Amino acid sequence: MEKLIRKGAEASIYLSKWFEFSAIRKERLPKPYRQKSLDDAIRTQRTLREALLIAKAREAGVPTPLIYFVDPKKAEIIMQNLEGKRLKEIFLEDGIALKKKLAKDVGMMVAKLHSAGIVHGDLTTSNFIFNNNKLFLIDFGLASQSTKQEDMGVDLKLIKEVLNSAHHNNFQKLYPQIVAGYEEVAGKKRTRKILEVVSEIERRGRYARVE
Ligand SMILES: Nc1ncnc2c1ncn2[C@@H]1O[C@H](COP(=O)(O)OP(=O)(O)O)[C@@H](O)[C@H]1O
Ligand SMILES: [Mg+2]
Repeated sequence: MEKLIRKGAEASIYLSKWFEFSAIRKERLPKPYRQKSLDDAIRTQRTLREALLIAKAREAGVPTPLIYFVDPKKAEIIMQNLEGKRLKEIFLEDGIALKKKLAKDVGMMVAKLHSAGIVHGDLTTSNFIFNNNKLFLIDFGLASQSTKQEDMGVDLKLIKEVLNSAHHNNFQKLYPQIVAGYEEVAGKKRTRKILEVVSEIERRGRYARVE
């Protein structure tokens, strides 16, 4: 009755059930090249961290899936299934009004996350789901607790990069909306600081994705 819907490098995603609720089961896969006891410990710890940060993000006002159940030993999280399109699909559709609104939501969500001392680590348009007229953020597999501007800048740089490559035609319209949303929550001063980090990363011509 479970259905595998995605097999990534880190995790397998199953469409499942939690009692009567439609659910997603995310299971972190063993890495055969790592010593087993070390691998178990890493998967357990990352699973707990992901579940914790999904919950903390929601407390900070960022819509995330409800966590139904966590099994640290099996390295799995059972969470609310958010039906709907991913932002990636929406940004490839025609029309601009909804896209602009959602880009602003992205900015506000990221600023709320950062204000709560969380960096996401994988801010791509595949990790936002538009469900019931509301944008949700998923996939906290690379998220961490940080209040460093450098880490926040890396977050913003990644989403900017994704817009510029996968959604190039809309970049000029959407990126300013993200910045405007960020500024509405974080204020001018903090936003300016983060944008300076983004520019600096661009000047350096490389950026590190933090694990
Ligand atoms: N709670 C959820 N509700 C609906 N779909 C989800 C949910 N979690 C994951 N997915 C789907 O599975 C894909 C992969 O999940 P994700 O957590 O992003 O893992 P990965 O680390 O492999 O990117 C997502 O892009 C999304 O399509
Ligand atoms: Mg993902």
